[in-house]
Amino acid sequence: EKGGYEHFMLKEIHEQPEALRQTLRGKIRDGKVDLGDLGIKPSRIGKIYIVACGTAYHAGVVGKLVIEKLARIPVETDIASEFRYRDILWQSDDLMIVISQSGETADTLAALREAKRQGIKVLAVTNVVGSSVAREADKVIYTHAGPEIAVASTKAYSTQLLIMYLLALYLAQERKTLTTEEIEIITSELMKIDEKVEEVLKQEEKIKKLAEKYQKVESTFFLGRSFDYAVAMEGALKLKEISYIHAEAYAAGELKHGPLALISEGVPVLALITQDNLVEKSMSNIKEVKARGAVVVAICKSNLQEACQECDEQILLPEVQSLLTPILSVVPLQIFAYYMAVFKGADVDKPRNLAKSVTVE
Ligand code: M6R
Repeated sequence: EKGGYEHFMLKEIHEQPEALRQTLRGKIRDGKVDLGDLGIKPSRIGKIYIVACGTAYHAGVVGKLVIEKLARIPVETDIASEFRYRDILWQSDDLMIVISQSGETADTLAALREAKRQGIKVLAVTNVVGSSVAREADKVIYTHAGPEIAVASTKAYSTQLLIMYLLALYLAQERKTLTTEEIEIITSELMKIDEKVEEVLKQEEKIKKLAEKYQKVESTFFLGRSFDYAVAMEGALKLKEISYIHAEAYAAGELKHGPLALISEGVPVLALITQDNLVEKSMSNIKEVKARGAVVVAICKSNLQEACQECDEQILLPEVQSLLTPILSVVPLQIFAYYMAVFKGADVDKPRNLAKSVTVE
Protein backbone atom coordinates (compact mmCIF):
# COMPACT_ATOMS: atom_id res chain seq x y z
CA GLU A 1 0.00 0.00 0.00
CA LYS A 2 3.04 2.26 0.35
CA GLY A 3 3.83 1.56 -3.29
CA GLY A 4 7.39 0.48 -2.57
CA TYR A 5 8.19 3.52 -0.43
CA GLU A 6 9.32 3.17 3.16
CA HIS A 7 6.78 5.67 4.44
CA PHE A 8 3.50 7.18 3.29
CA MET A 9 5.03 10.62 3.55
CA LEU A 10 7.68 9.88 0.93
CA LYS A 11 5.10 8.24 -1.30
CA GLU A 12 2.85 11.29 -1.00
CA ILE A 13 5.72 13.68 -1.72
CA HIS A 14 6.31 11.76 -4.94
CA GLU A 15 2.62 11.75 -5.80
CA GLN A 16 2.56 15.53 -6.06
CA PRO A 17 2.93 15.80 -9.85
CA GLU A 18 -0.02 13.46 -10.34
CA ALA A 19 -2.07 15.16 -7.61
CA LEU A 20 -1.50 18.49 -9.35
CA ARG A 21 -2.58 17.04 -12.70
CA GLN A 22 -5.75 15.62 -11.18
CA THR A 23 -6.58 18.87 -9.41
CA LEU A 24 -6.04 20.94 -12.54
CA ARG A 25 -8.15 18.71 -14.75
CA GLY A 26 -11.02 20.49 -16.47
CA LYS A 27 -10.33 23.83 -14.78
CA ILE A 28 -8.44 25.51 -17.62
CA ARG A 29 -9.98 25.61 -21.08
CA ASP A 30 -8.51 27.62 -23.96
CA GLY A 31 -6.48 29.69 -21.56
CA LYS A 32 -9.53 30.55 -19.46
CA VAL A 33 -10.16 29.40 -15.91
CA ASP A 34 -13.48 27.76 -15.19
CA LEU A 35 -14.47 27.20 -11.58
CA GLY A 36 -18.23 27.38 -12.10
CA ASP A 37 -20.58 29.36 -9.93
CA LEU A 38 -18.95 30.51 -6.69
CA GLY A 39 -22.29 31.37 -5.11
CA ILE A 40 -21.31 35.04 -5.17
CA LYS A 41 -20.56 37.21 -8.18
CA PRO A 42 -16.81 37.88 -8.40
CA SER A 43 -17.50 41.55 -9.16
CA ARG A 44 -19.54 41.87 -5.94
CA ILE A 45 -16.94 40.52 -3.51
CA GLY A 46 -15.82 43.25 -1.12
CA LYS A 47 -13.42 41.33 1.04
CA ILE A 48 -12.22 37.76 1.46
CA TYR A 49 -11.42 35.97 4.72
CA ILE A 50 -9.32 32.85 4.33
CA VAL A 51 -9.49 30.67 7.42
CA ALA A 52 -7.62 27.42 8.11
CA CYS A 53 -5.17 25.64 10.44
CA GLY A 54 -1.60 24.40 10.13
CA THR A 55 -0.46 23.59 6.63
CA ALA A 56 -3.81 24.63 5.16
CA TYR A 57 -3.30 28.03 6.80
CA HIS A 58 0.06 28.30 5.06
CA ALA A 59 -1.65 27.66 1.73
CA GLY A 60 -4.04 30.45 2.71
CA VAL A 61 -1.14 32.85 3.23
CA VAL A 62 -0.11 32.25 -0.38
CA GLY A 63 -3.78 32.62 -1.34
CA LYS A 64 -3.87 36.09 0.18
CA LEU A 65 -0.78 37.25 -1.67
CA VAL A 66 -1.91 35.94 -5.01
CA ILE A 67 -5.56 37.06 -4.83
CA GLU A 68 -4.53 40.56 -3.80
CA LYS A 69 -1.93 40.68 -6.55
CA LEU A 70 -4.02 39.36 -9.40
CA ALA A 71 -7.65 40.04 -8.52
CA ARG A 72 -7.19 43.19 -6.42
CA ILE A 73 -9.54 42.11 -3.64
CA PRO A 74 -8.51 42.73 -0.02
CA VAL A 75 -7.85 39.44 1.74
CA GLU A 76 -7.24 38.53 5.36
CA THR A 77 -5.86 35.11 6.15
CA ASP A 78 -6.24 33.92 9.71
CA ILE A 79 -5.73 30.84 11.83
CA ALA A 80 -9.16 29.35 12.53
CA SER A 81 -8.64 29.12 16.29
CA GLU A 82 -7.85 32.86 16.35
CA PHE A 83 -10.41 33.98 13.81
CA ARG A 84 -13.24 32.50 15.83
CA TYR A 85 -12.62 34.79 18.76
CA ARG A 86 -12.18 38.02 16.82
CA ASP A 87 -14.93 40.58 16.39
CA ILE A 88 -15.15 40.58 12.63
CA LEU A 89 -16.67 43.62 10.95
CA TRP A 90 -18.84 41.49 8.70
CA GLN A 91 -20.19 42.98 5.49
CA SER A 92 -22.75 41.30 3.30
CA ASP A 93 -20.38 41.25 0.32
CA ASP A 94 -17.67 39.32 2.20
CA LEU A 95 -16.63 35.86 1.11
CA MET A 96 -15.11 33.28 3.44
CA ILE A 97 -12.78 30.64 2.07
CA VAL A 98 -12.03 27.72 4.38
CA ILE A 99 -9.19 25.37 3.51
CA SER A 100 -9.06 21.94 5.11
CA GLN A 101 -7.57 18.72 3.79
CA SER A 102 -9.76 16.53 6.00
CA GLY A 103 -12.76 18.84 6.09
CA GLU A 104 -13.15 17.89 9.76
CA THR A 105 -10.93 20.33 11.66
CA ALA A 106 -13.02 21.60 14.58
CA ASP A 107 -11.87 25.23 14.61
CA THR A 108 -12.15 25.59 10.84
CA LEU A 109 -15.65 24.16 10.94
CA ALA A 110 -16.61 26.53 13.76
CA ALA A 111 -15.36 29.54 11.75
CA LEU A 112 -17.39 28.35 8.76
CA ARG A 113 -20.51 28.04 10.93
CA GLU A 114 -20.02 31.54 12.30
CA ALA A 115 -19.82 32.99 8.78
CA LYS A 116 -22.97 31.13 7.79
CA ARG A 117 -24.76 32.46 10.87
CA GLN A 118 -23.83 35.93 9.67
CA GLY A 119 -25.26 35.20 6.22
CA ILE A 120 -21.81 35.20 4.57
CA LYS A 121 -21.11 32.90 1.61
CA VAL A 122 -18.53 30.20 2.31
CA LEU A 123 -16.34 28.51 -0.25
CA ALA A 124 -14.57 25.36 0.94
CA VAL A 125 -11.34 23.94 -0.43
CA THR A 126 -11.07 20.37 0.79
CA ASN A 127 -9.75 16.96 -0.18
CA VAL A 128 -12.50 14.82 1.29
CA VAL A 129 -15.83 14.37 -0.45
CA GLY A 130 -18.71 14.35 1.99
CA SER A 131 -16.67 15.84 4.86
CA SER A 132 -18.37 18.22 7.29
CA VAL A 133 -16.79 21.28 5.69
CA ALA A 134 -17.85 20.09 2.22
CA ARG A 135 -21.41 19.51 3.38
CA GLU A 136 -21.84 22.83 5.16
CA ALA A 137 -20.17 25.24 2.72
CA ASP A 138 -22.11 26.96 -0.07
CA LYS A 139 -19.62 25.84 -2.67
CA VAL A 140 -16.78 23.30 -2.66
CA ILE A 141 -13.67 23.12 -4.76
CA TYR A 142 -11.96 19.78 -4.28
CA THR A 143 -8.26 19.17 -4.26
CA HIS A 144 -7.91 15.83 -6.04
CA ALA A 145 -4.82 14.81 -4.11
CA GLY A 146 -6.10 11.33 -3.29
CA PRO A 147 -6.01 10.01 0.28
CA GLU A 148 -3.29 11.59 2.41
CA ILE A 149 -2.27 9.13 5.12
CA ALA A 150 0.89 10.64 6.64
CA VAL A 151 0.15 13.11 9.42
CA ALA A 152 2.52 15.59 7.79
CA SER A 153 0.65 17.18 4.93
CA THR A 154 2.44 17.35 1.57
CA LYS A 155 0.37 16.71 -1.53
CA ALA A 156 -2.67 18.32 0.08
CA TYR A 157 -0.64 21.52 0.48
CA SER A 158 0.59 21.68 -3.11
CA THR A 159 -2.89 21.04 -4.48
CA GLN A 160 -4.33 23.67 -2.12
CA LEU A 161 -1.78 26.09 -3.56
CA LEU A 162 -2.88 25.19 -7.06
CA ILE A 163 -6.50 25.98 -6.14
CA MET A 164 -5.40 29.33 -4.68
CA TYR A 165 -3.77 30.23 -8.01
CA LEU A 166 -6.77 29.10 -10.03
CA LEU A 167 -9.11 31.02 -7.79
CA ALA A 168 -7.03 34.19 -8.02
CA LEU A 169 -6.91 33.86 -11.80
CA TYR A 170 -10.63 33.16 -12.02
CA LEU A 171 -11.45 36.21 -9.93
CA ALA A 172 -9.03 38.33 -11.97
CA GLN A 173 -10.60 37.10 -15.20
CA GLU A 174 -14.15 37.82 -14.06
CA ARG A 175 -13.24 41.19 -12.54
CA LYS A 176 -11.05 42.04 -15.54
CA THR A 177 -8.10 43.04 -13.42
CA LEU A 178 -5.84 41.07 -15.79
CA THR A 179 -5.94 40.90 -19.58
CA THR A 180 -6.66 37.66 -21.41
CA GLU A 181 -2.98 37.52 -22.41
CA GLU A 182 -1.77 37.98 -18.85
CA ILE A 183 -4.04 35.18 -17.70
CA GLU A 184 -2.87 32.91 -20.49
CA ILE A 185 0.76 33.35 -19.54
CA ILE A 186 0.09 32.13 -16.00
CA THR A 187 -2.30 29.33 -16.95
CA SER A 188 0.20 27.95 -19.46
CA GLU A 189 2.82 27.85 -16.71
CA LEU A 190 0.39 26.14 -14.36
CA MET A 191 -0.25 23.47 -16.96
CA LYS A 192 3.43 22.58 -16.90
CA ILE A 193 4.02 22.91 -13.18
CA ASP A 194 3.70 19.13 -12.62
CA GLU A 195 6.76 18.54 -14.83
CA LYS A 196 8.72 21.12 -12.90
CA VAL A 197 7.84 19.45 -9.61
CA GLU A 198 9.17 16.24 -11.16
CA GLU A 199 12.45 18.01 -11.87
CA VAL A 200 12.71 19.15 -8.27
CA LEU A 201 12.02 15.61 -7.04
CA LYS A 202 15.11 14.45 -8.94
CA GLN A 203 17.22 16.28 -6.37
CA GLU A 204 16.16 13.92 -3.59
CA GLU A 205 19.61 12.34 -3.15
CA LYS A 206 21.29 15.71 -2.79
CA ILE A 207 18.76 16.84 -0.19
CA LYS A 208 19.08 13.54 1.66
CA LYS A 209 22.84 14.15 1.94
CA LEU A 210 22.17 17.58 3.42
CA ALA A 211 19.84 16.02 5.97
CA GLU A 212 22.51 13.48 6.83
CA LYS A 213 24.99 16.26 7.37
CA TYR A 214 22.72 18.33 9.60
CA GLN A 215 20.88 15.53 11.41
CA LYS A 216 22.40 16.37 14.80
CA VAL A 217 21.51 20.05 14.93
CA GLU A 218 19.23 21.33 17.65
CA SER A 219 17.80 24.35 15.98
CA THR A 220 17.13 25.64 12.45
CA PHE A 221 15.81 28.79 10.82
CA PHE A 222 13.79 29.27 7.66
CA LEU A 223 13.91 32.67 6.01
CA GLY A 224 12.08 34.29 3.15
CA ARG A 225 10.19 37.33 2.00
CA SER A 226 6.69 37.49 0.53
CA PHE A 227 5.83 34.14 -1.13
CA ASP A 228 9.10 32.77 0.23
CA TYR A 229 8.10 33.63 3.78
CA ALA A 230 4.84 31.71 3.33
CA VAL A 231 6.83 28.65 2.24
CA ALA A 232 9.39 29.15 5.01
CA MET A 233 6.56 28.78 7.54
CA GLU A 234 5.48 25.54 5.91
CA GLY A 235 9.04 24.18 5.77
CA ALA A 236 9.60 24.92 9.46
CA LEU A 237 6.30 23.28 10.42
CA LYS A 238 7.20 20.16 8.47
CA LEU A 239 10.59 19.87 10.14
CA LYS A 240 9.42 20.38 13.71
CA GLU A 241 6.38 18.16 13.28
CA ILE A 242 8.19 15.01 12.19
CA SER A 243 11.83 15.41 13.28
CA TYR A 244 11.20 17.23 16.60
CA ILE A 245 13.99 19.64 15.75
CA HIS A 246 13.37 23.23 16.69
CA ALA A 247 12.57 25.15 13.52
CA GLU A 248 11.58 28.79 13.25
CA ALA A 249 10.39 30.68 10.23
CA TYR A 250 10.99 34.39 9.98
CA ALA A 251 10.20 37.04 7.44
CA ALA A 252 13.76 37.87 6.44
CA GLY A 253 13.24 41.58 7.10
CA GLU A 254 12.27 40.87 10.71
CA LEU A 255 15.62 39.34 11.60
CA LYS A 256 17.18 42.49 12.95
CA HIS A 257 14.17 43.08 15.14
CA GLY A 258 15.16 40.30 17.49
CA PRO A 259 15.74 36.83 16.10
CA LEU A 260 19.22 37.63 14.81
CA ALA A 261 20.32 37.29 18.43
CA LEU A 262 19.63 33.54 18.16
CA ILE A 263 21.95 32.95 15.22
CA SER A 264 25.20 31.35 16.31
CA GLU A 265 28.05 29.30 14.82
CA GLY A 266 26.90 26.31 12.78
CA VAL A 267 23.14 26.97 12.90
CA PRO A 268 21.52 25.92 9.61
CA VAL A 269 19.49 28.62 7.90
CA LEU A 270 17.31 27.51 5.04
CA ALA A 271 16.89 30.54 2.84
CA LEU A 272 14.23 30.71 0.16
CA ILE A 273 15.36 32.94 -2.67
CA THR A 274 12.89 32.80 -5.52
CA GLN A 275 11.45 36.28 -5.86
CA ASP A 276 13.13 38.17 -8.69
CA ASN A 277 12.38 41.60 -7.21
CA LEU A 278 13.56 40.75 -3.69
CA VAL A 279 16.88 38.99 -4.27
CA GLU A 280 19.08 41.85 -3.18
CA LYS A 281 17.15 42.41 0.00
CA SER A 282 17.24 38.71 0.84
CA MET A 283 20.96 38.47 0.12
CA SER A 284 21.69 41.28 2.54
CA ASN A 285 19.89 39.27 5.26
CA ILE A 286 21.93 36.23 4.33
CA LYS A 287 25.14 38.18 4.74
CA GLU A 288 23.98 39.09 8.24
CA VAL A 289 23.41 35.49 9.31
CA LYS A 290 26.58 34.29 7.63
CA ALA A 291 28.59 36.92 9.48
CA ARG A 292 27.36 35.25 12.68
CA GLY A 293 28.49 31.80 11.58
CA ALA A 294 25.25 30.34 10.22
CA VAL A 295 25.44 27.78 7.44
CA VAL A 296 23.10 28.84 4.68
CA VAL A 297 21.25 26.40 2.46
CA ALA A 298 19.63 28.34 -0.37
CA ILE A 299 16.53 27.12 -2.15
CA CYS A 300 16.98 29.28 -5.14
CA LYS A 301 15.38 29.81 -8.54
CA SER A 302 17.96 28.92 -11.20
CA ASN A 303 18.06 32.39 -12.78
CA LEU A 304 19.06 33.77 -9.36
CA GLN A 305 21.93 31.34 -8.87
CA GLU A 306 24.55 34.02 -9.44
CA ALA A 307 23.19 36.08 -6.56
CA CYS A 308 23.11 33.02 -4.29
CA GLN A 309 26.79 32.14 -4.82
CA GLU A 310 27.68 33.14 -1.28
CA CYS A 311 25.38 30.55 0.25
CA ASP A 312 27.04 27.38 1.52
CA GLU A 313 24.72 25.04 -0.33
CA GLN A 314 22.31 25.56 -3.16
CA ILE A 315 19.23 23.69 -4.26
CA LEU A 316 18.16 25.00 -7.62
CA LEU A 317 14.58 25.24 -8.81
CA PRO A 318 13.53 25.29 -12.46
CA GLU A 319 12.64 28.63 -13.97
CA VAL A 320 9.06 29.73 -13.31
CA GLN A 321 7.29 33.03 -12.66
CA SER A 322 8.10 34.32 -9.19
CA LEU A 323 4.52 34.10 -7.99
CA LEU A 324 4.28 30.38 -8.75
CA THR A 325 7.44 29.31 -6.93
CA PRO A 326 5.77 28.03 -3.72
CA ILE A 327 4.59 24.87 -5.54
CA LEU A 328 8.23 24.12 -6.35
CA SER A 329 10.15 25.51 -3.39
CA VAL A 330 8.19 23.57 -0.78
CA VAL A 331 9.29 20.24 -2.26
CA PRO A 332 12.96 20.34 -1.13
CA LEU A 333 11.77 21.38 2.34
CA GLN A 334 9.39 18.41 2.52
CA ILE A 335 12.19 16.06 1.47
CA PHE A 336 14.60 17.67 3.93
CA ALA A 337 12.15 17.28 6.83
CA TYR A 338 11.46 13.70 5.80
CA TYR A 339 15.11 12.63 5.84
CA MET A 340 15.89 14.55 9.01
CA ALA A 341 13.14 12.49 10.68
CA VAL A 342 14.38 9.27 9.10
CA PHE A 343 17.96 9.87 10.30
CA LYS A 344 16.65 10.58 13.78
CA GLY A 345 14.74 7.32 13.72
CA ALA A 346 11.44 9.11 14.35
CA ASP A 347 8.06 7.66 13.45
CA VAL A 348 7.71 9.68 10.26
CA ASP A 349 4.11 8.93 9.37
CA LYS A 350 2.78 9.16 12.94
CA PRO A 351 4.68 11.83 14.85
CA ARG A 352 4.30 11.86 18.61
CA ASN A 353 1.42 13.84 20.13
CA LEU A 354 -0.24 14.53 16.78
CA ALA A 355 -3.35 13.32 14.97
CA LYS A 356 -4.10 13.52 11.25
CA SER A 357 -7.27 15.41 11.84
CA VAL A 358 -7.82 17.69 14.82
CA THR A 359 -11.47 17.35 15.76
CA VAL A 360 -11.17 18.92 19.20
CA GLU A 361 -11.03 22.67 19.76
O1 M6R B 1 -7.35 18.67 7.67
P1 M6R B 1 -6.87 20.07 7.80
O2 M6R B 1 -6.28 20.58 6.53
O3 M6R B 1 -7.96 21.01 8.30
O4 M6R B 1 -5.74 20.03 8.88
C1 M6R B 1 -5.12 21.21 9.31
C2 M6R B 1 -3.88 20.93 10.12
O5 M6R B 1 -4.21 20.15 11.25
C3 M6R B 1 -2.82 20.18 9.31
O6 M6R B 1 -2.49 20.84 8.14
C4 M6R B 1 -1.54 19.99 10.15
O7 M6R B 1 -0.96 21.23 10.39
C5 M6R B 1 -0.57 19.04 9.41
N1 M6R B 1 -0.28 17.91 10.24
C6 M6R B 1 0.72 19.70 9.02
O8 M6R B 1 1.55 18.84 8.32
